[in-house]
Amino acid sequence: MIIGELNPHLRLLLGPGPSPVHPRVLKAMSSHVVGHLDPDYLAVMDDCQQMLRQVLNTRNRVTFPVSGTGSAAMEASICNMIEEGDTAVICVNGVFGERMADVAGRYGAKVIRVDAPWGRPIDPQDVKKALDAHPGAVLVGIVHAETSTGVLQPMEEIGEICRKHGALLLMDCVTSLGGVPVEVDKWGVEVAYSGTQKCLSCPPGVAPITFSERALGRARERKGKVKSWYFDVTLVEKYWGQERVYHHTGPISMSYAIREALRVVLEEGLEKRFARHALASQALRAGVEALGLSMFAQEGFRTPTLNTVTLKPGVEDGAVRRRLLNDFDIEIGGGLGPVAGKIWRIGMMGHGATQANVVYLLSALEVIFRQMGYTGSVGSAVAAATRVYAEAVS
Ligand SMILES: Cc1ncc(COP(=O)(O)O)c(C=O)c1O
Repeated sequence: MIIGELNPHLRLLLGPGPSPVHPRVLKAMSSHVVGHLDPDYLAVMDDCQQMLRQVLNTRNRVTFPVSGTGSAAMEASICNMIEEGDTAVICVNGVFGERMADVAGRYGAKVIRVDAPWGRPIDPQDVKKALDAHPGAVLVGIVHAETSTGVLQPMEEIGEICRKHGALLLMDCVTSLGGVPVEVDKWGVEVAYSGTQKCLSCPPGVAPITFSERALGRARERKGKVKSWYFDVTLVEKYWGQERVYHHTGPISMSYAIREALRVVLEEGLEKRFARHALASQALRAGVEALGLSMFAQEGFRTPTLNTVTLKPGVEDGAVRRRLLNDFDIEIGGGLGPVAGKIWRIGMMGHGATQANVVYLLSALEVIFRQMGYTGSVGSAVAAATRVYAEAVS
């Protein structure tokens, strides 16, 4: 039997990622594949590094897309900074902080957790207390935008605390980069990683990473070799840097993709892009509240890129999301772990953060709520959202 031609649905991706891929990125991916040391590819690598520095707001020389998804970049950050027996303070207020703690432990760290309830940010004073209690801690790991809860973590104070204690600050900016300001140098972040499939509107497959000189010093001066050959930055940097020493076969088409995605981001301009995300999120929030739902993440600490919505009693999580997918081709995300079945995660990311998408999703929810007999007057959510847009332009 011959397996049929690939024909996935054209979905509107409004979940926690992947987000809608920009058509220019898809076009770039279909360009000719050249060799991984071809001068054309080396130029692509240089372009990616230069644009990533701009988007991350860093002067770090070693800034490049790791071959792999966001979790690969998380692992690459941690395995280079941690040696067996090191103490690492890891902030946990959701799934991805939890994953960071797990990865740090796997690389031999003694993990000191700083916890906050899901839906709330980490208190910088708790980080300070942990560092006071463990002055030998080499690293503080934290998630900037927690995709499982929708919390946006203020970073300035934490950078300052880490600097005073001499600990390296490692930041996950997977769900923030390209959607809200990310200031690696200003915040005193020494290692940061992201993903492509969120606010950069590129398929998953490579993941931005950046190391400060201080962080690189730590990787070079460690007692033993980095436990991962693939992610050892002292080896990989020779491929991305001037030496161009073969390390592994670069993911050529994915490099084309991130190059084009970064071009799209910088053409729009970071400030305009952040404003577009903020407005889409504000309109979406107005709409879901008009449907009688409420926001989950603590007010004042919500990331516009990932909006978490608490379901009201009677609203059937799975049934509504199935209808969205089957009847409207819209994907939104359900809750993870302790909030599974209790919240939705609605992404307003990159190319997807538009008025048209907000209105389409809210109209679909209005129709489904009506069909399923939930309260909420038809038209109210769309009206609330369009008011936000109207006020923004007036
Ligand atoms: C905050 C955060 N960190 C890390 C990851 C892991 O990235 P990936 O799924 O691309 O491996 C994700 C993925 O959703 C994420 O949202």
